[in-house]
Amino acid sequence: MPILEKHLFVCTHGPFCWHDGDCDGIFERLKKRVAAAELKDSVRINRAGCLNACGHGPAVVVYPDNIWYGHVQIDDVDELFASLQNGEPVARLRLPDDFQKQTNHYPEAVQQFKRVERGLDDQRRAARESIFAAESVASD
Ligand code: FES
Repeated sequence: MPILEKHLFVCTHGPFCWHDGDCDGIFERLKKRVAAAELKDSVRINRAGCLNACGHGPAVVVYPDNIWYGHVQIDDVDELFASLQNGEPVARLRLPDDFQKQTNHYPEAVQQFKRVERGLDDQRRAARESIFAAESVASD
């Protein structure tokens, strides 16, 4: 596998960013731009869980540059993609180095969504543990 030059993580699975913009759309459009430019061997776009930039979403981080973007909207994707190619970060979307997670302003329904997600995580973990336990018994 070639060494990636850039690795972008888009918060698509965090509990809050989805409320601030079309995280899945941003992810899909970035993937399409990378594919169309035939950069799949050097640029990877990944879905991510919470990047701890809640309240500034949708959040995107670029590695290895350690560039954090916030409040990204789908119309920003072309500019973001161009920045990967020209090496100039999109200043208007950059989060300050000292940004803080902020979640208190989200409505109760969004806070509830976070609790539902945690419950689903617990179920997923329990299902995995159950499978591992069954495999362990079968191999004994
Ligand atoms: S929910 Fe996206 S950074 Fe936390």
